[in-house]
Amino acid sequence: MEKEYIKINRETYDILAEEYKERNYAVKDDFYKNVMFKDLDFSEGKKILEIGPGRGARLNNFLEYGMDVFAIELSNKMCKLCNTIAPQAHIINDDVFGVSFNFKFDFIYMEAVIHNFPLKDVHPLLKRVKSWLNKDGILICTTTVNDEDSEGYEAKDDYDNPRKRFRHRYTEDSFDNIFKENGFKIIDKKYKEEIDEDRKKMWQIVYARKK
Ligand SMILES: C[S@@+](CC[C@H](N)C(=O)[O-])C[C@H]1O[C@@H](n2cnc3c(N)ncnc32)[C@H](O)[C@@H]1O
Repeated sequence: MEKEYIKINRETYDILAEEYKERNYAVKDDFYKNVMFKDLDFSEGKKILEIGPGRGARLNNFLEYGMDVFAIELSNKMCKLCNTIAPQAHIINDDVFGVSFNFKFDFIYMEAVIHNFPLKDVHPLLKRVKSWLNKDGILICTTTVNDEDSEGYEAKDDYDNPRKRFRHRYTEDSFDNIFKENGFKIIDKKYKEEIDEDRKKMWQIVYARKK
């Protein structure tokens, strides 16, 4: 049976899909290309999986590198946006825990999604991610930087529709620890500053390989 937080997250992201599509994002494509992806061997034929692509903006970047692009997205409304923006990507509309693959990926990309899972499910989630990565594959995973570690349902107050969804808040240390405790070694860490009229957020970006 579907867990309560997965059901709530699905309903919330279905409702927020239009707002995600219309929002004017403070961080533009050039940050992704020139900073976030700069040291990664994104090149033709590499396989990349994005978990929780939302409106699908990054899928388009991945396609531009000539990669073979897959995504798993819980919200049917978000999947429709992904199919429109990146029709050559393979979009799977499912919970990440309901999917299996008979091949592996060079990269797995998780932007602003790991914090939608309670810590007790992050362990099986990272185990799953690890099993989908090639031996030298790289996981790229982001969340916000917080002063204290906490989790529970929170309303998204930076959106017009303040629906609740599950949110884990990580400090720098508690975020690093989830990778170290689940068989990954961190190979790099970067930061993304997001400042616009609605938000002032600092994001941490972990790059990790299997130990
Ligand atoms: C905060 S949004 C981030 C979207 C996008 N990555 C971005 O940075 O704009 C989280 C996304 O992850 C998806 N998601 C949440 N839980 C998921 C799950 N269990 N399986 C697959 N996708 C999930 C949500 O539907 C939503 O589109």
